[in-house]
Amino acid sequence: MAKEKILVTSALPYANGPIHLGHLSGAYLPADIYVRFNRLKGNDILYICGSDEHGVPITITADKEGITPKEVIDRYHEINKAAFDKFGMSFDIYSRTSIETHHQTAQTFFKSYYDQGILVEKKSMQFYDEKAKMFLPDRYVEGTCPNCGYDEARSDECERCGSLYEPNELRNPKSKITGETPVLKETSHWYFPLGRFQERLEKYIEEMNKKYGWKENVLQYCRGWFKDGLKDRAYTRDLDWGVKVPLDNAEGKVLYVWFDAVLGYISATKELSDKLGKPELWREYWQDKETKYVAFIGKDNVVFHTIIFPAMLMGWNDGNEDQYILPQNVPANEFLNFEGKKFSKSRGWGIDVIDFLKLFPADPLRYTLAANLPENKDTDFYWKEFQTRNNSELADIFGNFVNRTFTFVHKHFEGTVPERKDLQKIDEEMLSGLKEYPKKIGELLSKYKIKEAVFEMMNLARSGNKYFNDVEPWITIKQDKERCGTTLNICLQTINVLAEVFEPVIPGSSEKLFKMLNSPKINWDDLGVIELASGHQLNKAEILFTKIEDSQIEEQINKLPKEEVEEKKEKFEMITFDDFMKVQLKVAEVIEAERIPKSDKLLKLQLKIGKEQRQIVAGIAKSYNPEELIGKKVTIVFNLKPAKLFGVESQGMILAAENSDGKLELMEVSDKVETGTRIK
Ligand code: 2FM
Ligand code: ZN
Repeated sequence: MAKEKILVTSALPYANGPIHLGHLSGAYLPADIYVRFNRLKGNDILYICGSDEHGVPITITADKEGITPKEVIDRYHEINKAAFDKFGMSFDIYSRTSIETHHQTAQTFFKSYYDQGILVEKKSMQFYDEKAKMFLPDRYVEGTCPNCGYDEARSDECERCGSLYEPNELRNPKSKITGETPVLKETSHWYFPLGRFQERLEKYIEEMNKKYGWKENVLQYCRGWFKDGLKDRAYTRDLDWGVKVPLDNAEGKVLYVWFDAVLGYISATKELSDKLGKPELWREYWQDKETKYVAFIGKDNVVFHTIIFPAMLMGWNDGNEDQYILPQNVPANEFLNFEGKKFSKSRGWGIDVIDFLKLFPADPLRYTLAANLPENKDTDFYWKEFQTRNNSELADIFGNFVNRTFTFVHKHFEGTVPERKDLQKIDEEMLSGLKEYPKKIGELLSKYKIKEAVFEMMNLARSGNKYFNDVEPWITIKQDKERCGTTLNICLQTINVLAEVFEPVIPGSSEKLFKMLNSPKINWDDLGVIELASGHQLNKAEILFTKIEDSQIEEQINKLPKEEVEEKKEKFEMITFDDFMKVQLKVAEVIEAERIPKSDKLLKLQLKIGKEQRQIVAGIAKSYNPEELIGKKVTIVFNLKPAKLFGVESQGMILAAENSDGKLELMEVSDKVETGTRIK
């Protein structure tokens, strides 16, 4: 099969704090699995990452701790690099955006837009802290989101609903430095006219989706932005930490952090090329139409990778001879939560990667996270699940199968691969699985369906274990040694395939297995075809997975902040029948539905409930078009106090549940029930 040339990037994490398990599940582990798999396929692949070392959060940390931003980034760059390393990330380079190459790259791009006349210089009103005597960019200001009402929204972007807006749209702004209400004062900045690129961006995304199948969650985000219309976006900030704006009249201004961050992928590749002594190598990836570029990110980064970065690359390509490729796919993940709640450093909720790896090895963590990736909806890390995945899956299924086979072969066949003769049906089936599983797993991995692929990996181990039980070598060894040898040969072939298909997920354990098998990795496509020869000498068995005790898990759970645990328990508090009867659920029919302007989540519905008509605002706009709702019979909470959402009165609540794709499904009712009927 023709080899592919692939460029993979994972979001550059801010060097502003230690990464936690949520980061791993979002943008790093899935990418590492994808990359390792492609290396085994023999593809020509580069995996790029590094620290994002600019932006306001870093200066806020430095201010808080009374140190310089440089000290902050040096500290966290090292901590995160070490954490990734221990976790088994196989980056080709882990670079950083403070390097000179990066500053030059970012300035060159900016200069090109400026020279082409793409940038628009605009005066605007920005928050200014009169007490601190400085403009307050981005996150130095906190307030209420104009879209969803979230209280801790940033000045230009809401973390909760993902909307982007202008600073003057933020409600109740407060300076994070002094706590004062900032004033709006005039400043001038250079804007990138994203709107001019909208048509091309829409075409690009639809085309990529048609050819390569983009994830539904990513498409939904993009289409939402297109529907609202892309606006000009300021690409400079009043700040002194960052890449200096390369113009004469730009004192005290730096490039917007997201402008330089996405270009960090390119500078990191340049740094790698320099290190390899081939300074032009980066062009063979970034500027070759044959390269497939895949950008792994978490959902909070979608707009930057599907709209802002591609628009920047298009802008460059318009005015320069060297032409960059655009991402072929952006398989963004949703978020991983921790024990039912969002990770929160300030509330002590969650665990950092580096701390986790002081307690437990990387592979069980990689397996647990991979088996539960937030590919289509948010998922959770639970300590108990970690223990079960390690003990009942890795140790009891995979480890046990390997251990039983090796013990047997060492005891009865002098540690060599026995001969295989006279196959029975059960043997043929097992052997054909050794060809089919890698194929199926490979197809899933190629489509970024990593969670499903991991499930199939364990299924192969499961079927190996079952085969061992079914062929009963402990009996055949006494009655028919040749038959026993045949079945153990097949068990060893299975372990050989398992060692490789599991390599992307648990590389440390795989390495041990290859050592035990005394055999090298082979090309993925040869799995089940190239086999261990009979007579091949094996090495001694090693322990692959150690069981985790209840006490070890309890110790971790007990470390969680008490109030939070209590709060979590309350969620499952039992209620009485009378409590339940307080809630009046009724059947209603949708008779009108329309979008609420400026909200990408809310719909205004008119409902018929028996003889009554009511208006309810429902947060289902991302899952349903207004037209398809008309005539649906749904369930509502009838006696909920009216409330205003986005200034629109809502008299009740409509019930819905999230499906596995993260889409809301309305709780529909059979046509046989009249509207107005109470549900009990
Ligand atoms: O969200 C973040 O952690 C950003 N630092 C990601 C940047 S990705 C890319 F643009 F570098
Ligand atoms: Zn919001």
